[in-house]
Amino acid sequence: MHAICVRSLKLIVRTTLLIASAAAFAADPITVVIDTQHPGPGINPAMWGVFFEDINFGADGGLYAELVKNRGFEFPDPLMGWTKLPASSSTGKMEVLDGAPCNKANPHYLRLNSETEREFGIVNEGFRGMGIKADETYLFSAQIRSGSGKPQLEVRLIGSNGQVLASASLKGFSTSWEKHTAHLRAMGTDPKAHLAIVMRGAGQIDLDLVSLFPKHTWKDRPGGLRADMVQMLADLKPGFMRFPGGCIVEGHYLTNRYQWKNTIGRPEERKLLMNRWNDEFKHRPSPDYFQSFGLGFFEFFQLCEDIGTEPLPILNCGMACQFNSSELAPIDQLDPYIQDALDLIEFANGSASTPWGARRAAMGHRAPFHMKLLGVGNEQWGPQYLERYERFAKVLKSKYPGIQLISSAGPSPADERFKFAWPKLRQLHADIVDEHCYAAPSWFLENTHRYDNYDRSGPKVFMGEYAAQSVATVSPKNRNDLECALGEAAYMIGLERNADVVRMASYAPLFAHVDAWQWTPDLIWCDNLHVYGTPNYYVQQLFSRNRGDKVLLTRVTGAGADDTNQAPRLFASGTREDKSGEVILKLVNPTAQAQTASIVLEGTFIPRKEARATLVAGSSPHDENSFAAPTRVAPRLSILGGVSRRFDYECPPQSMTVFRMVSL
Ligand code: AHR
Repeated sequence: MHAICVRSLKLIVRTTLLIASAAAFAADPITVVIDTQHPGPGINPAMWGVFFEDINFGADGGLYAELVKNRGFEFPDPLMGWTKLPASSSTGKMEVLDGAPCNKANPHYLRLNSETEREFGIVNEGFRGMGIKADETYLFSAQIRSGSGKPQLEVRLIGSNGQVLASASLKGFSTSWEKHTAHLRAMGTDPKAHLAIVMRGAGQIDLDLVSLFPKHTWKDRPGGLRADMVQMLADLKPGFMRFPGGCIVEGHYLTNRYQWKNTIGRPEERKLLMNRWNDEFKHRPSPDYFQSFGLGFFEFFQLCEDIGTEPLPILNCGMACQFNSSELAPIDQLDPYIQDALDLIEFANGSASTPWGARRAAMGHRAPFHMKLLGVGNEQWGPQYLERYERFAKVLKSKYPGIQLISSAGPSPADERFKFAWPKLRQLHADIVDEHCYAAPSWFLENTHRYDNYDRSGPKVFMGEYAAQSVATVSPKNRNDLECALGEAAYMIGLERNADVVRMASYAPLFAHVDAWQWTPDLIWCDNLHVYGTPNYYVQQLFSRNRGDKVLLTRVTGAGADDTNQAPRLFASGTREDKSGEVILKLVNPTAQAQTASIVLEGTFIPRKEARATLVAGSSPHDENSFAAPTRVAPRLSILGGVSRRFDYECPPQSMTVFRMVSL
């Protein structure tokens, strides 16, 4: 059976979908004709991917499963996230120091001094609390050094009502830094728990890299990723993963740009950086948002390998964010930036005998990661970008001709910046051009033919960031509703139909924490314990799991088809899957009325009477998923009878249906 995410699937044994007779809907018929005989262009196996950025607590506080915020006391306010244990002895003192640190990249640490035997301690609030689950084990660790006395430490998980959920003791500290660990098994579940470290006995203790991870992470890797969030990615079966963004690549200024070399090696040596989304939006300030880089470039490549997706790193090209400072690295000083790109390729693909391949091997991955794609700059524009892209391309292409480079057409799908970029990129023989679009759902419905007349001989297209905005771009009121999801679905029909020119596409952004987001809409929402996919997520999933290998010419005719003057009522695309020989038909009905389509299969393909039909639908365009109803709008699989070379199907109001038809 075609694999569908178990949580989102309800097998309806006897289909409730109506197979209407053509006569019943003859008043205004729509016909969908699929030519099964003459397969068109091949579809990139990596066509439908994901865009990951550490925005909305996507990495720190999200995918990266660390539960302690400001674990190294490196935030500019070094005690942010930390408070004194309420019942602490008043004679205790705490101060942040940096003399004789445990590591030089992150030099600060906390010194606790207690003069009495009474309890003195500190509490970490986590990332808007810590998600703790009953019967789950948590791994505590910290670098500890003793100064004087023989104090002991007790580590406690405290529930939001003050109840102790787990505790463990630590003792026997040396006068030099040492890592101490403890296992904590939680007695209760709490989404907003805290971690307390309590000193017992007079003396002095230094603490650094205070860390708490669930034992159960993705693949149970210590210090790893949140398993439920990675599972959501794996369930999408993405063709590629773009990383690390997004504007985060650029930085407000070049000094705080994303530098991949600072994200590898031992986690404690990865220098903390303020997250550029920390203060970007005055209406959504996140003063406690920093990048620990615990999810760095090695973990990114490893994750791609785990879930079978192509890594697509995006690197800074000597330009800070053009919505912020627009700072430029002078053109004659680009070499370090280009060298970073060359080194990244070696880190990913070089043998373990090369300097950067050796770094990868030392981190536990001797075999190369086989990276094939690389983005030069994120959402850049203007002549400054093009001259920088040209320099990068010249060097990268001569050394690594097999790596496909992604170049940028700026932040909008049709403005002056876009129109300036495209001809120049064509002249430069760019491989793949990254287009971005955040617009109303109506824009997506009206632009399903956007690529029909694109030049087939020039660069290919990567629709690298797109999402329908229910209110307005960057409005905090935007919702992930069904109307937006179906606007995107109709648009994706147009991308699929033009798969010879549009080679890749990804919705953006990917993750958002319900208590800590800056940008909405987002594909997947989480809190400290749960995660759910939006209707938009399930649309992406339907496309990526039902991609097909070849485009089949598909015509929609009749009143209200998208080639008439009326508002289109139905969008359709057919593909063929080589391995199974199946014909896959996608139908999107964004209207509030059921639409009956006469489906005609031209050619020698004769379908079996029964086909699998997966439906995403809702009762209103404003339907959304939530923690309480995570699969309200989600795929429902049914077996549809009565399929033949010509059959009628009634598309429910506001729906997307995918048929998989097997040959007789
Ligand atoms: O997806 C959110 C942001 O939108 C990205 O960081 C940026 O590239 C675009 O402007």
